[in-house]
Amino acid sequence: MLREVTGIRYVTPLREGGSVPGVVEADDLGTYVVKFTGAAQGRKALIAEVIAGELARRLDLRVPELVRFDFDPVIGLGEPDQEIQDLLKASGGLNLGMDFLPGSLGFDPLVFPVETAEASRIVWFDALIGNVDRSWRNPNMLVWHRDLWLIDHGASLIWHHNWRTARAASDKPYDASEHALSRFDPDPAAAAAELAPRVTDALLTEVTGLIPDEWLTDEPGFDTPDDVRRAYRELLLNRAADVHRRITLAPKQGERQPPPEWLRTWVEGKNAQ
Ligand SMILES: Nc1ncnc2c1ncn2[C@@H]1O[C@H](COP(=O)(O)OP(=O)(O)O)[C@@H](O)[C@H]1O
Ligand SMILES: [Mg+2]
Repeated sequence: MLREVTGIRYVTPLREGGSVPGVVEADDLGTYVVKFTGAAQGRKALIAEVIAGELARRLDLRVPELVRFDFDPVIGLGEPDQEIQDLLKASGGLNLGMDFLPGSLGFDPLVFPVETAEASRIVWFDALIGNVDRSWRNPNMLVWHRDLWLIDHGASLIWHHNWRTARAASDKPYDASEHALSRFDPDPAAAAAELAPRVTDALLTEVTGLIPDEWLTDEPGFDTPDDVRRAYRELLLNRAADVHRRITLAPKQGERQPPPEWLRTWVEGKNAQ
């Protein structure tokens, strides 16, 4: 089970992305970024955070610790924004916390170089979980102590929003052409050779076992939380086998198309002026 902590002080909302997580202090004296069950993205976003985050960790990618976060809306009463108040009031009980990395910076591909092997592993992993939220516009990676840390997997595993069509949806290609690590010439096939054999049924059983039962009950078409866990396992196992063949990459640095003739003429004309 994930470790469980209880919130004692709501510090501030984080407004960069869509889900407005909160920075909250807990009874273990730690500070966490809390994703709330009452957010528009709902509990499936939290399930995606648990599966993707804990799977990434077991593949030796860096993800801040995830905890079960017990939140009492009373501690947020001082928050003046009415929308945030509503979010907190709708989120009493079990939520998801991620260890807050103090002093971390948002990843910028033009400033922080990433080795090809690491870029390859992350691009392959994002393809595995169908992550559409790691583009250069919105990298959802932090640089902390000179290392790259992955955050925000709430928008991955999108096919779980409709289990009837999930298998067909998960067989679709993965477009990595705008991935934040594109410029580091990732080689997802090499990463697949290294990582795919590690994505076993046993590993996925361990990972899906960390999803709280509360978030898996009442899933249409399933009788028990374990049935839903099995569906996640089967889908990811199937995808791990061959998703690297369905990844679209941006052209490599040295292979970019030359500019079209009209543009070259125009630039030369400008330079001659
Ligand atoms: N563990 C963390 N440590 C420090 N800052 C974080 C952490 N997690 C998120 N943040 C900051 O909060 C922002 C929003 O969090 P994120 O998980 O991306 O949620 P969303 O995009 O769904 O709102 C991030 O862009 C980042 O700046
Ligand atoms: Mg984000």
